[in-house]
Amino acid sequence: MSSNSVTGYTVPQRVLHWVMAGLIFFNLIFSDGMEHWNRLMRRGEAITPDDVSAANIHAYVGIALVVLCLIRLGFRFAQGAPDAPAEEPPLLKLAAKIAHWTLYALFILMPATGIAKYYFGNDTLGELHGGPLKILLWALIVAHVLGALVHQFYWKTNVLARMTRGV
Ligand code: HEM
Ligand code: HEM
Repeated sequence: MSSNSVTGYTVPQRVLHWVMAGLIFFNLIFSDGMEHWNRLMRRGEAITPDDVSAANIHAYVGIALVVLCLIRLGFRFAQGAPDAPAEEPPLLKLAAKIAHWTLYALFILMPATGIAKYYFGNDTLGELHGGPLKILLWALIVAHVLGALVHQFYWKTNVLARMTRGV
């Protein structure tokens, strides 16, 4: 793996990481409004303006996430990212790299499939959204947080610090 001069994430990269993490948790955990809308649609029942408002919160948070992701990718390509510390075994370095880029892909694929279902009535993509893609996203987040904890407490690296304080 090539070394570079970047030692931490920049302020915009750190702010975007934590704002996006918050919004993603919000959409993963509080999706009831959207699920309720989906149930009513499936059963062909009446949908009130309140139902639509509740579902729209999920939709708008998700759309905000794609926009933030594109801005974040801009910073990522312009400013780069620090190398994985030497303590991390090569196979896990590779796993982290794959996980990070898959997460970026999901920041786009989740909203895209949600939009396809909500605005264009595409049931197949809707099932992908609430099924496999949602599970993959949860699995990667769990692995990601475990990885951060192992770095902090087992290898005792500065990986968490470079996403918080920036060093
Ligand atoms: C990263 C952004 C997003 C995340 C993390 C997310 C997450 C979720 C979750 C957890 C569910 C519940 C699935 C279930 O357990 O049944 C769901 C359902 C749904 N979401 Fe999203 N969502 C996102 C973006 C969007 C966007 C932008 C839209 C539309 C504009 C959308 C439309 C829907 C629809 C229509 C459903 C119901 C269909 C289903 O449950 O399969 N989502 N979403
Ligand atoms: C929804 C939750 C989260 C998502 C989607 C997410 C996503 C990401 C992504 C895509 C990166 C790669 C950044 C890049 O190199 O371009 C990253 C880095 C990082 N994340 Fe998260 N993250 C989440 C939550 C968390 C949490 C809860 C923690 C802490 C426990 C955390 C700690 C870190 C750290 C320390 C890095 C830097 C890794 C490094 O320097 O190699 N993240 N995150």
